[in-house]
Order: sequence, then C-alpha cells, then structure tokens
Amino acid sequence: MAEPHMTVATTRSELSEAYLLTGDRARAVVMTMGGLHAGHAELMTLARNAVGRQGHVTVTIFVNPLQFGANEDLANYPRTLDSDLSMCAERSVDLVFTPTREVMYPDGDPLITVDPGELGRRFEGADRPVHFGGVLTVVAKLLQLTNPNVAVFGEKDYQQLTLVRRMVADLDFDVEVLGGATVRSADGLALSSRNEYLNADARAAALAIPQSIAASQLAAKNGADAKEIEAAALGVLDASAGVSPVYAVVTNTQMGPAPKSGEGRLIVTAIVGGTRLLDNARIDIVGRDS
Ligand code: PAF
Repeated sequence: MAEPHMTVATTRSELSEAYLLTGDRARAVVMTMGGLHAGHAELMTLARNAVGRQGHVTVTIFVNPLQFGANEDLANYPRTLDSDLSMCAERSVDLVFTPTREVMYPDGDPLITVDPGELGRRFEGADRPVHFGGVLTVVAKLLQLTNPNVAVFGEKDYQQLTLVRRMVADLDFDVEVLGGATVRSADGLALSSRNEYLNADARAAALAIPQSIAASQLAAKNGADAKEIEAAALGVLDASAGVSPVYAVVTNTQMGPAPKSGEGRLIVTAIVGGTRLLDNARIDIVGRDS
C-alpha cells in the first residue's frame, strides 16, 4: 500500500491551498514548537483518533518568539525539523505548517494580543510575565489559520492547557480542546523538549520532580490536606541536591483554590541545572475523618 502523502506548508498560501484539497473532512491540529518527542507523537495519535482515518491532522511547528522573555532560551530552543517531519510522517499526519516569524507576524510583533487574565499572571506567569500572553496570541492565530474542529494540547503544560480552554470558552472559538496525558521516561521524568538541556547530573537530579509528585500522592492517600500535600512535595525537592523548587501547589482542576476533598492538581516547577522543568499530576484528596 502506498504511504499516505504528507504536505509541508511554510507560507499562508501553501496552507490555504492544502486546506482547499481537504474539503469538509474533520480537522484536528496539534500545535508544537518542534523538538518533537514521544509526548508529541501521542498528541498526534489523539488527534488522529479524534477525527478518524478520513479526517485531516495538521501539526504546526513554530518557535514562537512572543512567548519567550528577554533572558529565556529562544535562541537555543531545540530546532530539529528533519526528525520532526519524520515523526509526523510516521504518525500519518496530513499537513505540517512550519511558518517563519515573518509569515506568522507579517506586520512585526502584533499590537493587539490576548490577555491571559489573572491566571496567566500566577504560577508560571509570575516569573514569566510575557509567556502566556504570547502563547495565547499564537494559539489564537493558529486556530484562525488552521480552523480545526479539534485542537490537542499536552497536560504536561497544565497551566497552558487550562488557559487555552478558558480562551476558547471566553472568546467563543468554535473548537474542541483535548488534553493528552503526560508521557514519561521509564524512570518517571516527564518528557519535554527542554530535557535536551540537561547534562547527566542534572538529568539524574531532575528525578526529584516525579519523586515529589509520588510523595504528595502518598500524602494525599494518607489523608493529608492541600497544604500538607504541598509540603510533602516541597520536602522532596528541598532535600534534593541540584534542585531549586519554584513552587509546588495544589489547585482544583481549573487551577483555582484547592478543594477540601475530591480531585485536585499538583503543579510543580523546579530549576535543575539551569533549566526550568514543569510537571503536574492529578491528586485525589480524601481528607481525614474528623
Ligand atoms: O506548548 C507549546 O509547544 C507552545 O506553547 C505552543 C502551544 C505550541 C504555542 O507556541
């Protein structure tokens, strides 16, 4: 059987032409900044499953300058287009859109951007003030350009996923947002394009992050409240050489205040070997009998 054909579009007109050929097939999009790994591959599979074999799956690859602060890693962010395209082809992606900065922002940086609101200024947003405005602005533009029925984002960036869901609801984008489960290495570290920055020592030290999640889940199982669960996570991070915790916070599923009981989310960020690593997991708060 012939391999399905994957189109690579770099300009807006190539993108429009490709979509003219897709007719009314259901469309899914997976937005990425490249540096693709098995976590992205799972998002592609989720996208394919959402629209079926007859549907159309687009992957966008664009390192979005708007979401990087002045001292962040825009210049060094992994750029691995050849292997990214191979992964997309292996996952039966129909179309890859890889615009340049000039194609995405033809008039220079946009004057009108998406305000991520109060949640966008907390947690990751507290230390990275331009980040979520930049993310939501490019996500909004890519939703306009790709016009999908379904858009898939990883749960690994839980605050990003939560904000995208809020933007889609609050600004009436006609798209279903799906979250893909975090993919982990066998030793528990969440896959991230930024893991590439870790040397062997930092890679080993980074295991404190999944270990902190395991400690907090155990504390929750033993009846701990949100503060005690956070303390359990921070206890592991504080005690781990080479790891600087930024926060470990329990929230509700929409990143509001932690529930007294029921499903919550532990979000964790730590700096390891100079690299900011994010992780999160579901926490089931059972509480203690009073
Ligand atoms: O998660 C990412 O890779 C990026 O933040 C996204 C959603 C592609 C926007 O640039």
